[in-house]
Amino acid sequence: MVADEAAQRLAELRRALNYHLHRYHVLDAPEIADAEYDRLFDELVALEAEHPDLVTVDSPSQRVGGAPSDQFDKVTHEVAMLSLDKCTSAEELSDWIARCEGRLTDPGAMSFTCEPKIDGVAVALVYEQGVLAMAATRGDGQTGEDITSNVRTIKSVPLKLEADNLPPRFEVRGEVYIPTQDFHEFNERAVASGEKPMINPRNGAAGSLRQLDSRITASRPLTMFCYSLGWVDGGWQPETHSQVIEQFRQWGLRVNDRLEEVADLTACMAYVEALQEARPSLGYDIDGVVIKVNQLALQSELGNVTRKPRWAIAFKYPAEEATTQVENVEFQVGRTGSITPVARLEPVFVGGVTVSNATLHNMDEIARLGLHIGDRVMIRRAGDVIPQVVSVIESKRPEDAQPIALPSACPSCGSPIVQPEDEAVARCSASHNVCPAQRKEGLKHFASRLAMDIDGLGDKLVEQMVDEALITHAGDLYRLSVEQVAALERMGEKSAQNLIDALERSKATTLAKFIYALGIREVGEATAANLARHFGDLEQLMAADTDSLEQVDDVGPIVAGKIADFFADADNRRVVEDLVAQGVDWPQPEKKRDDNLLTGQTWVLTGTLERMTRNDAKAMLVALGAKVSGSVSAKTHQVVAGPGAGSKLAKATELDIPVMDEEAFIAFLEEHGVDTL
Ligand code: IVH
Repeated sequence: MVADEAAQRLAELRRALNYHLHRYHVLDAPEIADAEYDRLFDELVALEAEHPDLVTVDSPSQRVGGAPSDQFDKVTHEVAMLSLDKCTSAEELSDWIARCEGRLTDPGAMSFTCEPKIDGVAVALVYEQGVLAMAATRGDGQTGEDITSNVRTIKSVPLKLEADNLPPRFEVRGEVYIPTQDFHEFNERAVASGEKPMINPRNGAAGSLRQLDSRITASRPLTMFCYSLGWVDGGWQPETHSQVIEQFRQWGLRVNDRLEEVADLTACMAYVEALQEARPSLGYDIDGVVIKVNQLALQSELGNVTRKPRWAIAFKYPAEEATTQVENVEFQVGRTGSITPVARLEPVFVGGVTVSNATLHNMDEIARLGLHIGDRVMIRRAGDVIPQVVSVIESKRPEDAQPIALPSACPSCGSPIVQPEDEAVARCSASHNVCPAQRKEGLKHFASRLAMDIDGLGDKLVEQMVDEALITHAGDLYRLSVEQVAALERMGEKSAQNLIDALERSKATTLAKFIYALGIREVGEATAANLARHFGDLEQLMAADTDSLEQVDDVGPIVAGKIADFFADADNRRVVEDLVAQGVDWPQPEKKRDDNLLTGQTWVLTGTLERMTRNDAKAMLVALGAKVSGSVSAKTHQVVAGPGAGSKLAKATELDIPVMDEEAFIAFLEEHGVDTL
């Protein structure tokens, strides 16, 4: 790029970045996602590197991080708080490792640590004689803000460390963040009491730490992971990063227990992939993995470049948030008639995939967001969760933006839509006998993996069959012929035969799956399993009144009412009877399980079990009240021995303890109502 063009682009970037910094840090109303900000920032830094003479004092690159606000005292960091270089592929990580190796006199001594890159706010804690003396934000890396009184309200930050090996003065660095669950609970409460919810956990953590009234900070669910030593006065000379973290743990500082020492690139990548898999269930937001050279001596040999260490790098995951435009809002009809508004979006790449729809849950959510058709919105796709609209960027609302109203008629059957007083969800007032959308959704649910598990009966096929009046109820599925199916669009003789075979196979099921497949409102997989276990057979369940239904685990009056209503409906009973008449079947009769059958007994499992895992076998025994022990003694009641059983079997024979093989064990379990499928 020629100098003139570069100067112009740099000016644009500076203006844009400073504008967004202000919106984020001062107004608490960002207009772009973090990843979009980062892209602009990276472009600025790259362009400045090509044209160092064009770097200006007001360039955001000159202050990395938040604008130090005037409201807090300034703190000069004794050692600068750095940021991290980043990479997004194994190749880039491999290049980084090679660069480290190239710079070291003894690269063979180098190993690495991997740990989650927590998406929160960096904070430094200074401990003097064990007492928390000061806490500061990173600010521009050189100068931060004194937020001691706010950090003192975070319960996981010790105000005093008790140990006889504490250095007299040292600084701990880490990330303050809000756990996912706490974030959702906080927002639910905020919405319920008419307050402004947090945009995301990171923004919420930053805002909470910037409160001038620390009582407000104290009411926020903040916590902290400590991840490095800033500096230390006095005798402590750890040799590795993992030793530092272990010492922190022993002193009572909160550290992340997913830190791992790894040897090489392959092990780093294995960690990166495993953590990405675990990302949705960690309980806190991360945006990648931090990989550090473990040996502190090698860290100092590698040193830093301006604001980044050479000895650490962040492997970044795809961003989970992005901004896009809402092109339309449509209303979908669910299996139980629930009406769900769905935003149709201008397609955007987020969380590693292209997203063009986001759920809006219900009208309350639309009201809370203040959403109009045409709005620019922040969306979030975390893990495999359905994409959500997080917030509306009101400053970007186009003039022709349209408010969103609940339609008065069901988009599928035209029946009136009702909004029950005590429910957030609006519903189609017709039953599934009238409303094709409900029927389709019910049949999709019936065919789904955790229900009847009908291989090859996908959503599109169900829709086509209902539209062409091939099926109305689940029982009709089992009357389909190969010819009928083969005549459908995109179906051949072979796939039709496959579907008929899959339908035939699906007839052999379990009572729990069958109950779940019926799609009774409020009856999920777990409740269906509880009902099957409790009643043992279908007739008893169908005949049960609400009192006896409430005896079942996790079934309260509302759920009991829904189940009783379902079976009181003559159409529903006809469908159930039809399915059974078509040959849908389960191990009959499923005996009612006696949870106390083996109470007080100790069982031992030994040898190889071929039809179940050791863990499953153990769980089934525990469900019957038994204790499962690893060794045989005079107190053992029963041994289950598979092939390869050795000393335990010998001991049992010696002590005259009864032994059964796996086949007898399975027969025993089934006889006592345990589902061994
Ligand atoms: S090490 C120079 N470890 O990432 C070493 N940083 O982009 C930098 N962060 O400002 C700190 N989790 O706020 C380190 N496990 C972790 C981290 C972590 C999150 C943040 C930190 C830092 C930023 C760098």
